Amino acid sequence: DAPRDLVGRHVVVSAGGTREPLDPVRFLGNRSSGKQGYALARTAAARGARVTLLSANADLPDPAGVDVVHVGTAVQLREAALKAAADADAVVMAAAVADFRPEAYATGKIKKKDGEEPAPIVLVRNPDILAELSADRARPGQVVVGFAAETDDVLANGRAKLARKGCDLLVVNEVGERKTFGSEENEAVILGADGHETPVPYGPKEALADRIWDEAARRLAPATAD
Ligand code: C5P
Repeated sequence: DAPRDLVGRHVVVSAGGTREPLDPVRFLGNRSSGKQGYALARTAAARGARVTLLSANADLPDPAGVDVVHVGTAVQLREAALKAAADADAVVMAAAVADFRPEAYATGKIKKKDGEEPAPIVLVRNPDILAELSADRARPGQVVVGFAAETDDVLANGRAKLARKGCDLLVVNEVGERKTFGSEENEAVILGADGHETPVPYGPKEALADRIWDEAARRLAPATAD
């Protein structure tokens, strides 16, 4: 049975991947399925938390007993995250957020014209939501958790990213054939800003989600009576 260690807590989880529109029919996106974030939302609810799930383009049913806010772009996700984080005990950014978005949005479908070269796509930076949430904590003692998918030097890159983002925990996983994107399984190391590192062996995303909540729960500020 799940521990009931999140009773009385509000947790916010982002899931899926943002889509950055170019025109009414096209976008820049990524391969995130949302499964890890949804597993985090379900396991937090099972442990007694009130859960707000910020879902970016995940093709998954809304989990029972969870408040789901659907968003499209990184800018929309930021809005929703800042709002939901205001009274949250923990925020877990599991969504794959586009680092860049097209500078211009064409209100009509972009057309190819005979004999013309395609126009270049100019990108601008998106806000880094995780870094912002970490720097401006909505509550003292709020636990902020990020994810990093790396292809090489996983631990070294993860440790550097943890420091750069300023979050409390960073879940690093290696992007590989049978894990991470779209898969039911994952394998990761949970890095703590306190230097504590927890390897989680290959297994269901639900199991990794529970290990993440174990680490987050240990770091939560003592519960208040409000
Ligand atoms: O920098 P990178 O994209 O690898 O960082 C991944 C982590 O940062 C994830 O937790 C992701 O949700 C978060 N992120 C964010 N805003 C961005 C880019 C990433 O919150 N613009």
